[in-house]
Order: sequence, then structure tokens, then C-alpha cells
Amino acid sequence: MNNEVLKNCVKKYWNFASCGTEFIKKTKFSTEYFDAIQDFRYTIEPEIFSFAQFTRFHGKKVLEVGIGAGTDFLQWVKSGAVCYGIDLTEEAIANVSQLLAQQNLSAVEIKVADAEHIPYTENFFDLTYSWGVIHHSPDTIRCLDEIIRVTKPGGTIKLMVYNRRSLFAFYMYLRYALLKGKPFQSFSKVIYDHQESIGTKAYTRKELINILATKSVDIVSIKSPVTNHDLLYYKSKLIRFIPYILACICGWNSVGWFMQVELKKMDTGEKRS
Ligand SMILES: C[S@@+](CC[C@H](N)C(=O)[O-])C[C@H]1O[C@@H](n2cnc3c(N)ncnc32)[C@H](O)[C@@H]1O
Repeated sequence: MNNEVLKNCVKKYWNFASCGTEFIKKTKFSTEYFDAIQDFRYTIEPEIFSFAQFTRFHGKKVLEVGIGAGTDFLQWVKSGAVCYGIDLTEEAIANVSQLLAQQNLSAVEIKVADAEHIPYTENFFDLTYSWGVIHHSPDTIRCLDEIIRVTKPGGTIKLMVYNRRSLFAFYMYLRYALLKGKPFQSFSKVIYDHQESIGTKAYTRKELINILATKSVDIVSIKSPVTNHDLLYYKSKLIRFIPYILACICGWNSVGWFMQVELKKMDTGEKRS
């Protein structure tokens, strides 16, 4: 499948339902609808707060790439950041427009745009933030280059990408390869075919470090603590005991599904040592 066709599939998938809205039974765009999205998200993914550190960016120019249903975007706006947001889908922009209007809040700009072609000039943002987005885009490296381009020298980049060396990835392999009698199918192929939109990628820490070594950024931190997704939060207590034991064996700090990456864009003229 070529990248254009793949991107259309990705767009179609997320246009059908923005991330986190698919199981919400409340009337679309009602207060209860947005409350339910937020409650669910921050119960299952509480690590977002310590990673994003929303309130530290008060007064700063922040771009969120891939705003989805806007739960994190709302935190940026409430924190007093000067907010810009983009997403590939009209559905996301409709969600976020309604969410902000309901709270009587506004952003500088939210619009449909492609992370592979970010419609802002270089060196514009103090922070560029993207949670669980660029691994869905066919050209993830191009998204990364674009994010680096629009961030100011010395500015911060916070990204979450999926971790292929995680308990959740192992669970995907068990479910879609081993138990289907395809033990030689790779983790990458299983994730590509079955994790949310088609074409999803997941990286190892080493792969990511190698990619970042070619870019004008310094790595501040890469963390992948075990998440509720790795612990199969939606399964019975008995089943959840298995990933719990695996986490104890493999290490709670390294085999989580979310690779949380914080980068600093190098100052102009700075050279990689
Ligand atoms: C898993 S959701 C994450 C949304 C949001 N960041 C969150 O955490 O809820 C992935 C989002 O990435 C968006 N997306 C995928 N490819 C994109 C691209 N090339 N440019 C902009 N957004 C993209 C999708 O439309 C979708 O809203």
C-alpha cells in the first residue's frame, strides 16, 4: 500500500471516531460526553500528567500535534498556554471546537492539518507535544522532522510513541500471531495490522535513540513504565495476575507500551558531541 492510500485509511479510521470516544455512550458533544472521555482517559492513562506537566507551560507557545478528542488540549488551554492544535481529521476538530466552546475557552488556532506537513514556520513553538500520533502516520520520520522544525531552538518536544518491547506488544503477538498458529509473524506486522488504524508502528528504545542521533535534538529522557494497557486493565483479576508477574520479572520501568520521549531542540550552531 503506498503512503497516500495508507494515509487515507488512517484518516478514515480516526474520522469515524476520535481516540477515546468510541465507547462513550453519552449524547455526542454533551457535557457528560466530554466528562466521560476525560474520566476514562485519565483513569487509564494517569502518566500523562507527570509527562506533559501542563501547568509549566503557562504563557508559552504550545503546539499539540494530533489533538484527537481534545482532552490533553483542554489541559494546555486551561493552563494558560498559547495554544495551537492540529489533527488529520475533521472529527477531531469538531470535538475540540465543541469542548472549548462548552468551557468558554479558546485557542489561538485549531485546524485540520497533516503532521507530515505542519503548517507553521520554523522555530515557532516553545513546546511541541504529541501523544500517540506520529506512529500512525505513514511517514513517521517526516512527522518527527516537522515537529523539530517548528520548535524553537532550546525548545521542548514531548512525544509518546509505542514501545515494541512491551508487555502489551507481547500480548498482541500472543493474540494475533501465536494463538492464530503464526508463531513466525513479527511483532511489527501484528501491530501494523491490528493496533488501531492500519499501518501503526512501534519502536524499540534502541531504534528510537538511533533515529534521534541523526536529528538536531538532545534527549532529555526516554521512559516506558508499565501502563494499565500492559496490565490488561479490562480483563479479569485472574488474567491480570499474569502481566503483573511478567512486569515484576521484566522490570516495571522499562516494558511499558508508552515510550515517553522528552527532547530539547539544539540551539542554532550547537553541534552534536
Ligand atoms: C491515538 S489518537 C491520539 C489522539 C490524542 N493525542 C490522544 O491522545 O487522545 C491518534 C490521532 O492522531 C491523528 N493523526 C494520525 N495521523 C496524523 C497526521 N499525519 N497528522 C495529524 N494527525 C494525525 C488521528 O487523526 C488521531 O486523532
